[in-house]
Amino acid sequence: MVIGAAGRAEGHRPVMAAEVAAFLRTVDPGLIVDGTAGGGGHLRHLMEAFPSARFIAVDRDPEAAGALPAEPGRLLVRNASYTDLPSIVAESGFGMADAAIFDLGLSSLQLDDPSRGFSHRLDGPLDMRFSREDDVRSAGDILNGLPEREIADILFRFGEEGRSRVIARAIVASRPLESTSDLVRAVRGALRGNPNRAMSRIFQALRIAVNDELGALSTLLAGMGGWVRQGGLAAVITFHSIEDRMVKRFFMDSGVFAHATPPWEVPSRDEARTNPRSRSARLRRGVRL
Ligand SMILES: C[S@@+](CC[C@H](N)C(=O)[O-])C[C@H]1O[C@@H](n2cnc3c(N)ncnc32)[C@H](O)[C@@H]1O
Repeated sequence: MVIGAAGRAEGHRPVMAAEVAAFLRTVDPGLIVDGTAGGGGHLRHLMEAFPSARFIAVDRDPEAAGALPAEPGRLLVRNASYTDLPSIVAESGFGMADAAIFDLGLSSLQLDDPSRGFSHRLDGPLDMRFSREDDVRSAGDILNGLPEREIADILFRFGEEGRSRVIARAIVASRPLESTSDLVRAVRGALRGNPNRAMSRIFQALRIAVNDELGALSTLLAGMGGWVRQGGLAAVITFHSIEDRMVKRFFMDSGVFAHATPPWEVPSRDEARTNPRSRSARLRRGVRL
C-alpha cells in the first residue's frame, strides 16, 4: 500500500510481498494464515503465488475484514484479533498452519479515513481504535483523561519521542482536545521548527497505546506454537523497533521458533524508492521448531 502526494491510497502495494512469497515457498504451504489481512494486498499476492493452498485471513478492523472476499473451502475470513488465532485455526477444520504472515501496524485505508483519527494530516475525531466496536479507550480518552506523566510515558515509550514531557504539558494545558487538529495545534505550540516527524511519532505512540498493540503481539507470539506445525514458517513485517525487538527475542529465545536463514530482510532499494511506506519495514523470518 502506498500513500500518494495527496495523502490518498494509490491501490495496495503490500510491503515485501515477493520476499514473503519466496520465504513461504520453501515449505510448499498447504495452509497459510494472514493475521493482518487489511486491504488484502499480501493475501491476494499469496493466493496467486500458491493456487492450491488454503487461507485463513483475519483483521481486527470490521471494515477491513468485511471487504475481504471469502471463498468457501479456500479462504476463511474472520473479523478478529490475531490473538484469537489458536481457536480460529482449530475451528477451521483446515489443520495446523504451514505458514503465517503478519504485517503489523496500520493500513493506508485506515490512515486515509479522516473519521478514524489516525492521521495528523487530516482533521477528525481523536479515535484511533482499530475496531470501533472494541470497548477500549480512544485517543481522546487518553489525552483528556490521563495524568500528564502517563501521557509523557506513552509518547516516550511507544513513540521514542525525546520531548515527551514538554509535549505532554502542552496537551494537558490545551484540554479538552476534541479533534486531531486540536492535538496538532497543541503539539505545534510546544515545539520549535518543523514538527512533522514528531507529529508522526506522537500519532503512532497513541495508536499503539489505544490498541495495546505490544500486548497483542506478545499474546500472539506466546500462542503461535499451538497452531503453526513443526517446520512451519512465520513471516512478521515490523515497522517499529520495539516490535522488531520483541519478534527477534522470541525467535532467538523461545525454544518454540528459531530464526530462519537469513533471519531478516529489508525492502530492496527499488521498493524503498517507489513505496516510501516500506522504508522502515523489516521482515523477520522464523521457523517453528
Ligand atoms: C499494515 S496493515 C496490513 C495490510 C495488508 N497486509 C495488505 O497488504 O493489505 C495492518 C492491519 O493489521 C490490522 N491489525 C492490527 N492489529 C491487529 C490484531 N491484533 N489482530 C488482527 N489484525 C490487526 C489492522 O487493522 C490493519 O488492517
